[in-house]
Amino acid sequence: MNTPLLRQPHFIQLYREDRAAVRSELAASLLAQPASLAPKYLYDPLGSRLFDAITELPEYYPTRTEAALLAEHGAAIAASVPHGATLVDLGAGNGEKAARLFDLLSPERYVAVDISVDFLRTALQCLQRQFPALDMLGVGLDFSAALDLPPEVGEGPRLLFYPGSSIGNFTPAEALQFLRQARAAAQGGGLLIGVDLVKPREVLEPAYDDALGVTAAFNKNLLLHVNRLIGSNFDVRDWAHVAFFNGEQSRIEMHLQTAREVVVRWPGAERTFAAGERIHTENSYKYQVTDFDALLREAGFVRTQVWTDARGWFAMFWAQG
Ligand code: AVI
Repeated sequence: MNTPLLRQPHFIQLYREDRAAVRSELAASLLAQPASLAPKYLYDPLGSRLFDAITELPEYYPTRTEAALLAEHGAAIAASVPHGATLVDLGAGNGEKAARLFDLLSPERYVAVDISVDFLRTALQCLQRQFPALDMLGVGLDFSAALDLPPEVGEGPRLLFYPGSSIGNFTPAEALQFLRQARAAAQGGGLLIGVDLVKPREVLEPAYDDALGVTAAFNKNLLLHVNRLIGSNFDVRDWAHVAFFNGEQSRIEMHLQTAREVVVRWPGAERTFAAGERIHTENSYKYQVTDFDALLREAGFVRTQVWTDARGWFAMFWAQG
């Protein structure tokens, strides 16, 4: 008896890490006044696991609020977005969030995009067993630099899915640029995007400074990652996690602050940090529904729809190109 061949996902790796460029970018940002480190370096293997743990914390409301929103309004969302399109999952990780939409949206093709196909391989193989008829492609791409999808993604309208309010980690100017690229990449389809909303400081700040200290570990682990990347000698015990809501900029800011003067050295340079000095590590912008809607329209989207939870904490926008 012949066993039917199981469809296999395909993979394309487009992003190539440029070690020298990474080293000079990190050195420049550490020597700048004030010092900063780009949030993308929060996600080494341990950082990614710590982030997964953050999403389980009682204080970190975004992940579960977004999941509840999609579960509650799934049918209405499905009625608005195109069916049978190519579903492009930006920052797919394990693909779990997009997979919850497969039955609702019946996509013809699932394209998972993340910085490295190594992150996607196991997840897509597992999803392929659950959805044997669905055509699947994994793309390794740093879409935060440029959202240039390869031709293998295929012709026709695309449904871009960008959940988790990761758009909040861009500045509003970068967010606008990303949204313009997303509109072009959708080829007449659209963008389904999760956006965290402004809410009382008493809710926002604990979400980024939890009682168990998981977010603090996530932030400090950035220094261990930088030590590996540039050969620096950061001692995590010198640095404290600082997170607060900057109301003027409408963003949570994360910093690392040293309690005493420290000299950090790496091959070719060093920097003295005075007691109390900080390194800025992340911004997480929080939007008003009307402001994000205006940003989508400025990016060229012509029709928008929004669903929010009962508390008005999180929004899911559908923007049509
Ligand atoms: C990935 N991103 C949407 C998270 C956020 O909420 O800005 C990253 C994060 N930083 C600290 N906690 C979670």
